[in-house]
Amino acid sequence: MKVMGIGNASREHAIAEALERSKHHPMIFWLAEIRNPGIFEICKRSGGEFALSKTTAPEKVASHAEKWGVDFVIVGPEEPNFHGVPDELERRGIPCVGASRDVAMIEMSKAEMRRLQWEYGIKGKLLFKTFRSSQEAYTVLERYSDTLTWLQNIALKPARQAGGKGVKVVEDQQLYLHDEKQRFKSKHADWLEGYMKSYSDIDDKILVEEKVWGPEYTLQCFADGNCIKGMPLVQDNKHAHEFDIGTETGGMGSISGPGFTLPFITKEEYQESLEIVRALVKAIQDKTGKIYHGVVAGQMMLTEIEGPTIIEMYSRFGDPEALNVLGLLKTDFVDVCLAIIDGRLSKLDIEFDDKATVVKAIAPKGYPDNRDLAKNHLVSVDEQVIRQENCKLYWGSASLSEGGEILSAGSRLVEILAMSDDIQRASRIVDKCVPYVKLLDGWGLFYRSDIGSHELLSKRIDIADRVRRLYQYRRSKGILGKRIDWLPRVGKMDPVALLKDELSKSKEGG
Ligand code: GLY
Repeated sequence: MKVMGIGNASREHAIAEALERSKHHPMIFWLAEIRNPGIFEICKRSGGEFALSKTTAPEKVASHAEKWGVDFVIVGPEEPNFHGVPDELERRGIPCVGASRDVAMIEMSKAEMRRLQWEYGIKGKLLFKTFRSSQEAYTVLERYSDTLTWLQNIALKPARQAGGKGVKVVEDQQLYLHDEKQRFKSKHADWLEGYMKSYSDIDDKILVEEKVWGPEYTLQCFADGNCIKGMPLVQDNKHAHEFDIGTETGGMGSISGPGFTLPFITKEEYQESLEIVRALVKAIQDKTGKIYHGVVAGQMMLTEIEGPTIIEMYSRFGDPEALNVLGLLKTDFVDVCLAIIDGRLSKLDIEFDDKATVVKAIAPKGYPDNRDLAKNHLVSVDEQVIRQENCKLYWGSASLSEGGEILSAGSRLVEILAMSDDIQRASRIVDKCVPYVKLLDGWGLFYRSDIGSHELLSKRIDIADRVRRLYQYRRSKGILGKRIDWLPRVGKMDPVALLKDELSKSKEGG
């Protein structure tokens, strides 16, 4: 059997490794934009090949798959999905585990995802409004923020998935800071407009959502068009520095288990989150007439207003979240892929180890704000010691030269995974491995020792308890999901008012 994968990062290294573990012993072929040392080695060992290529060019990717005569392709990152790589592969009769362009819209357009959620009445939704320019955004925020209270505390985001960047939260509750905060909103809206100029594939540029608060978690699922099976929950930690300080990154580390829930998410919340993801996939299939086959994930938050709530969707595994679940997967991953392709997921029993996992990313200083500083440092890793500690190292933003040297490429360099009976133990095991990753020119590396620590876990549990008490109270009073609709001196307001034209956009789109 021959299998081809696409993508550069640690998530793709974990996918390649899960394929390599299969009893089918596939020959593994890979396309990526940098030579990831781990994936390169797996391809060589399995008798396959590794090639450098643009991974968002459907014709190029499909031609490689044809040339290599692969049985199926698995897509790692989101951009190939957004560019229609799975569609072109299938047009040529090559099966693909990856969301086709139309259904991947639930990740690509955060605005379309929200419209779909409101149109189909899917739980866990937020009030939102989209804009095509910063001027339009600013005018609306100025005009309505006295009467529609949700506009006072907002998240300002790019309307498209844009590498996880550009989200700013503004809480405008202190009157004496109101003008300052309006200026900040306007400045960020300008920045978003500029940032979104490089994306011409959607009309919406800026998304404003009501601000919510609570612990986040990722629910990744396999989907074959008929059946959606959930994996163990994972919590990613996005901030660059300890205790959630600093710029948001692609993810500095993640925790899971033991089992399918997290220490701060209940079985019922897991089940509700799964129903939300299922409903969204069903809705996008209904809307587009296309089948969703591949991996889908809800990046969720437990909120006081709605309980389990969708923040964003992924049309792929998360990174680092993929490492947690693929590390635990007991069922043969090739069998899972074949079941997705053949629409047999409901018949396959997918099992995971009952352990806790912790992943920590190590990145060169400069990441994420000044990636040029994080590039081109010679890397040395003692993989043998890391293996002896019962950890696995996955190469990320690292490039293997023809001469066999490894250079940092500007983002998360490696991710280290440990499994144990509980999260805190797994976290300490990873910490022991960190000194074995070095940059030979002396440039600094950083990571988050707090991920999986007692202190951070206690903080997450406390927050979840508080949020849970509030949303359960709201549920008991029949006001879950209800927003303020009466204001002193203003009278009855419709908090959904601004959504009306959004929902008609959704109908036009359909
Ligand atoms: N861990 C965040 C992401 O995969 O986008």
